[in-house]
Amino acid sequence: MYEATVSAPVNIACIKYWGKRDTKLILPTNSSLSVTLDQDHLRSTTTSRVDESFEKGDRLWLNGKEETVKEDGRLGVCIKELRNWRKIEEDKNSSLPKLSQWPLRIASYNNFPTAAGLASSASGLAALVASLAKLYELPQSPSELSLIARQGSGSACRSLFGGYVAWREGSKEDGSDSLAEQVASREDWPEMRALICVVSDLKKGTSSTSGMQRTVETSTLLKERLNIVPGRMEEISKTIKSKDFENFAKITMKDSNSFHSVCLDTSPPIFYLNDVSKSIIQVIEELNRSSGEIIAAYTFDAGPNAVIYSLEKNIGKVLGVINKFFPQAEESKDPFKTKSEDLPESFNQN
Ligand code: DP6
Repeated sequence: MYEATVSAPVNIACIKYWGKRDTKLILPTNSSLSVTLDQDHLRSTTTSRVDESFEKGDRLWLNGKEETVKEDGRLGVCIKELRNWRKIEEDKNSSLPKLSQWPLRIASYNNFPTAAGLASSASGLAALVASLAKLYELPQSPSELSLIARQGSGSACRSLFGGYVAWREGSKEDGSDSLAEQVASREDWPEMRALICVVSDLKKGTSSTSGMQRTVETSTLLKERLNIVPGRMEEISKTIKSKDFENFAKITMKDSNSFHSVCLDTSPPIFYLNDVSKSIIQVIEELNRSSGEIIAAYTFDAGPNAVIYSLEKNIGKVLGVINKFFPQAEESKDPFKTKSEDLPESFNQN
């Protein structure tokens, strides 16, 4: 039996991906840029196995529960493409074991709540692609692998890199230039911190996939957003390279607000922010005003949870105001307490 285990962290976008121009290939209507969080906190870990003796058909467990792998579904497509790449290597070198012909067993865990707007699909699909690439010993670069991860879940292509990552929308119809690349490494700006405020860990009402399609179909404001984003991509990359937190924060907050505005401009409207989310926005705006400089930036994905970016020297101050205005209930003090990552019993059967 051959086995490989890989973990991939969550990434949180500063310039949001929201809208597809091709829903099958997952080609976005705009480029996006994110920060990949630290491996230690929010991550997905995936173990993949192949063996000649496994019963026919691929099987997958997510957080211990078996899920069906549909051949033409997103997962099935990722598996098929990676298998094809393995097959190419086997054809080139006949001494390689024929792993591409054997059934797969895949087990994946998130150490945080799934589908609560905490980008679980991003880390999950990135870990799956990276673990299969390791199992199959593929020679492809992370950017090439991002072409496959993208087809599993758009934002997943960015989780194949650490640090500051751009997903270039590309212009080719076949999607071969819609890939992720690193803009700067974590070490280039190591003072950056992300504070995750879990407002709710319930599954979100409108999934990103269906929500963004509804926005593409019904929002007139989206056209305006699509004119603005290319400039923002340029500007935010410059702020990262020059470690200009003030402008990084301004762009991040503006883009989060722009994304939630197009959600509101969708018919029927999509509300991801709740009253607590809106209070967090007000508290951070007030913190920045009273500090006389911008020391924190909020951003919200497809859910009410806030991510607050700040520099290490200011994170204590940010935590102070958050704890003051949003005292935590005793039982939710550590929502990220690592869940069991034991492999499910059934994973060990054939
Ligand atoms: C708001 O990547 O989950 O988090 O491609 O349909 O799987 P699919 O969508 P997904 O959308 C993420 C949307 C977002 C913004 C972002 O991460 O850029």
